[in-house]
Amino acid sequence: MNIAIVYTSKTGHTEELVHCIRDLFFENEIKVHLFRVEQFPLRDLSAFDGVIIGTYTWGDGDIPGEMLALYHAFEAADVKHVVTGVIGTGDSFYPHFCGAVDAFRDMLYVHSRLEVTLKVEVALQATDFARCRKFVGVFWNKLDNGVRHHLELI
Ligand SMILES: Cc1cc2nc3c(=O)[nH]c(=O)nc-3n(C[C@H](O)[C@H](O)[C@H](O)COP(=O)(O)O)c2cc1C
Repeated sequence: MNIAIVYTSKTGHTEELVHCIRDLFFENEIKVHLFRVEQFPLRDLSAFDGVIIGTYTWGDGDIPGEMLALYHAFEAADVKHVVTGVIGTGDSFYPHFCGAVDAFRDMLYVHSRLEVTLKVEVALQATDFARCRKFVGVFWNKLDNGVRHHLELI
């Protein structure tokens, strides 16, 4: 299985979250490739079996600028078969909490096999580890057995 986590992070919260997710895959002896979005080979998107997007939210519920090329690549590429998930950190002080996660969710639901999303309030807390574990379990289960049940929002 060829799995990528593609992420961006300005102040480190989303990076900490994606590292946690990556480590949980490794614990289960599942290899994943971690890319900062600037390093991700957009033209190879359809070659992945699974892609997890990690993003913070900017402005007024917006996708960070550096994630827009990835967003449009998913819209344009043949990715119907790619199992996807979205994770992100945000701050519920803002009217649209984790708006970038929602924007990727809506687009990926149409263009790919979106299976699971996870939103974290600012920085990872001890109580989030069980949610991260659940995210990895759901994502791997859907990827491994190929059966789509329904979108899970963790
Ligand atoms: C100018 C600015 C705008 C933001 N807008 C939002 C927003 O609309 N919704 C939200 O949930 N969080 C918003 N945030 C909070 C960040 O998404 C949050 O702090 C996130 O954890 C940062 O992730 P990072 O540490 O990976 O960069 C905003 C933060 C800043 C500084």
